[in-house]
Amino acid sequence: MIPFGHSPTWSLSGVHSYCLLLLFALCLGGMSVPVAVKVRDTAIIPCYKTCNGDVLWALTTKNEKLDVLRCVQGRCTEGSSFKNRVHLSHEKINSGNLSLIMSPVLYNDEGWYEATCDLELLCKFHLEVFVPTTVSVSVSGNVTLPCYARTEKTIADDSVNILWNKDDQMVLQVQKGHTKYGSGFTERASVSLHHYKDGDLSLNILGVTTSDKGLYRCYHNTDEEHGYPSAVSLIVTAHQKLCVKKFGDNLTLDLFGSDSVTVTFTGSDTEEIQVCNVTGNNTTCSLDYNNRVSVMNHSLVLRGLTSSDGGTFTVKDNMGEVISINTVTVEGVARNRSFVALLAFPFLVLLFIGLFLWCKYHRKSQVPENRSYYNARESIVVIESSQRESAYIGVPQQETNPNMSGDLEDYPGLPVEETMPVILTTEKQDNIAEE
Ligand SMILES: *[C@@H]1O[C@H](CO)[C@@H](O)[C@H](O)[C@H]1NC(C)=O
Ligand SMILES: *[C@@H]1O[C@H](CO)[C@@H](O)[C@H](O)[C@H]1NC(C)=O
Ligand SMILES: *[C@@H]1O[C@H](CO)[C@@H](O)[C@H](O)[C@H]1NC(C)=O
Ligand SMILES: *[C@@H]1O[C@H](CO)[C@@H](O)[C@H](O)[C@H]1NC(C)=O
Repeated sequence: MIPFGHSPTWSLSGVHSYCLLLLFALCLGGMSVPVAVKVRDTAIIPCYKTCNGDVLWALTTKNEKLDVLRCVQGRCTEGSSFKNRVHLSHEKINSGNLSLIMSPVLYNDEGWYEATCDLELLCKFHLEVFVPTTVSVSVSGNVTLPCYARTEKTIADDSVNILWNKDDQMVLQVQKGHTKYGSGFTERASVSLHHYKDGDLSLNILGVTTSDKGLYRCYHNTDEEHGYPSAVSLIVTAHQKLCVKKFGDNLTLDLFGSDSVTVTFTGSDTEEIQVCNVTGNNTTCSLDYNNRVSVMNHSLVLRGLTSSDGGTFTVKDNMGEVISINTVTVEGVARNRSFVALLAFPFLVLLFIGLFLWCKYHRKSQVPENRSYYNARESIVVIESSQRESAYIGVPQQETNPNMSGDLEDYPGLPVEETMPVILTTEKQDNIAEE
């Protein structure tokens, strides 16, 4: 459930947060502000100072004080608990940047980090390591991100302070009885003040879009007191749909309220091709689809399905994120065609055999032998009315007409359905040879 490994988005927000931290540091005259990092990610502990002596980064936790990185005469050595996990962001210690980079961050790396230059304190930061809870929801669904805190049960509404951030951007802030919303969250995000008094700061988001995915954190009282869980990772998933359609049916693709989408098609052995771009009610479609599509109440309708529409229609939003995957099977003409072909094939084979036998007997009947002629006629009737039993043609003749036995005794395997055509071909060649 917990996504491990380095996430590239965090590096960006890491950069973002250290810019903020830098501002804070300037405002607060070097006072410490926490650096929060997801376990296994990369932490940048900022320190924009120059040192012309020896630098030491040290960690103080509740119970321990450890060397993290010690640089003597420009040569840095990691502390034993930080082997191959830490380095300075700049090699030169007099470059004005002594920031410490740590990757991956372990859960017990939390604590106070201090940089000193020849024992003089330069920087001090608190690193907070969190394990996010994962919540997933499909596009356009509603979701609740959990957060609990030890709040005051009798607090006045206008004293409530709540802050929800997503990737370090504000989602919602309740302060002095007012609620402010981050961009894109107005009317969509909410917390209940009533539940706040029960210790529940959970965030509700309506009509989730793919851009809502990310790391959410909640705070109360001051911006530094976080709730539990201290972070929620929201995953937004695509809708999956299987559609079984009949030849000529219309296909309706739900666009899930998105203003701007791209629809693509992937056949069973074709590359993904563009079907349409849809913006509001306007569509821009490729030639093959132009006359077959329309937009109706947030759905794209594709008319008159044929067997070549069997495959996958993917709906993507304007960020290229997948909203829905529709796997379409078109039943009808194509399948019937192959079904008919399957039935017709043995029938045709047997018809040929019948005709061949008929020709052969007909030829023999010219040597005056009327009875065999009529029998041959009868056996053709058998062939046409009952395909399976027709494999036994010839046998009755063999019994009823001793004159014919010479030909058939050469093939003792009879009746054998599948080898019949081959046998008869050979026989025909024999006959030709006889002539
Ligand atoms: C989401 O919540 C809104 C408002 O409460 C409701 O109208 C809508 O049906 C909900 N959607 C889903 C998928 O439950
Ligand atoms: C497909 O849509 C067209 C136009 O909207 C409609 O006339 C037709 O009846 C529909 N076909 C089916 C099979 O629903
Ligand atoms: C799309 O068309 C419907 C009716 O066909 C109309 O009610 C709606 O306002 C249109 N939307 C836009 C964005 O043009
Ligand atoms: C879509 O719009 C049609 C009228 O254009 C309406 O009859 C139908 O109920 C609507 N479907 C949905 C799911 O809203």
